[in-house]
Amino acid sequence: MPVDQMTNIPSPAEIVEIKPISGDTALFRLRLMNEEAARDFTFVPGQFVQVSAPAAGEAPFSPLNPPGNDGALELCVRKVGHVTSQLHKARQGDVVGIRGPFGTGFPIAEMAGKDILLLAGGLGIVPLHSLLCHLLEQRDAYGSITLMYGAREPSALLLRDELRELACRRDMRLMLTVDFAAEESACEPSCNIGLLPDLLRGVPITADNCYAAVCGPPALYRCIIGELQGLGFSDRRILLSLERRMKCGLGRCAHCAVGQLLCCIDGPVFRYSDLKTIEGAL
Ligand SMILES: Cc1cc2nc3c(=O)[nH]c(=O)nc-3n(C[C@H](O)[C@H](O)[C@H](O)COP(=O)(O)OP(=O)(O)OC[C@H]3O[C@@H](n4cnc5c(N)ncnc54)[C@H](O)[C@@H]3O)c2cc1C
Ligand code: FES
Repeated sequence: MPVDQMTNIPSPAEIVEIKPISGDTALFRLRLMNEEAARDFTFVPGQFVQVSAPAAGEAPFSPLNPPGNDGALELCVRKVGHVTSQLHKARQGDVVGIRGPFGTGFPIAEMAGKDILLLAGGLGIVPLHSLLCHLLEQRDAYGSITLMYGAREPSALLLRDELRELACRRDMRLMLTVDFAAEESACEPSCNIGLLPDLLRGVPITADNCYAAVCGPPALYRCIIGELQGLGFSDRRILLSLERRMKCGLGRCAHCAVGQLLCCIDGPVFRYSDLKTIEGAL
């Protein structure tokens, strides 16, 4: 199937591996089965795909992997309802449908040459992991890179293996935090206890040469934006990924409206400057 048809017609993808990563979340490794689609499929970190599970419907997910892996797609799926439960029942070798990619990803060309601050809360680590992998593949094109990732408690930190590898790298900084931990020993070695905005204090950041990409629950956005503004970030350089209910993914049904904007085509990655006057956007 030509890749330009993939926004309208789901392309079959085989589940090549399913790996549990926490009580309700699993990593799905998929491979597009159509040769032409596998060869030509690409995306920008921050874009999303619609995944269809037989007899359950479609749901949007952000790729976890960086683009350009020859038809390979990694998704991190939390079980919350119909489609996600059906995906969690699937086995290796089963086939799902993929439409996309959709929407606007992170402005990676514009971010070149700048310092990058990634702030992830909970499942928000997924699109930021894709972005981070892309930045690290093009390491010389960017300034300093910092990933700050927060979760409720140590067991809710996703992608432990990947985090351990990132912690060993000398060309980026990884900072982890959890809201609370029953026992300090349960934490990752470099894990702080406290809220994500706490990590921003005490880290040298030159805001006028930096982009902040934030992805997480609405409560995170509400508390982090003021902190970033206080550090001198312009609203244009605060990038936020929004989650809305999606149907068509094509700007036709308005299920994903954010004021006059549509999350599926104008987002899901927005600049704070475009959202700040829209009531209910965050
Ligand atoms: C751009 C984008 C990227 C996403 N990336 C990921 C990802 O990488 N991993 C992941 O696990 N999930 C991701 N999600 C969320 C995921 O799409 C939803 O959890 C999924 O649609 C739920 O489908 P379901 O049929 O299982 O749930 P449903 O049966 O439709 O709903 C179950 C419950 O979840 C609520 N719900 C469903 N979707 C949403 C939503 N979008 N916002 C708020 N509440 C909702 C419903 O109101 C209901 O209470 C993303 C969403 C968007 C918009
Ligand atoms: S999902 Fe239909 S307009 Fe966005």
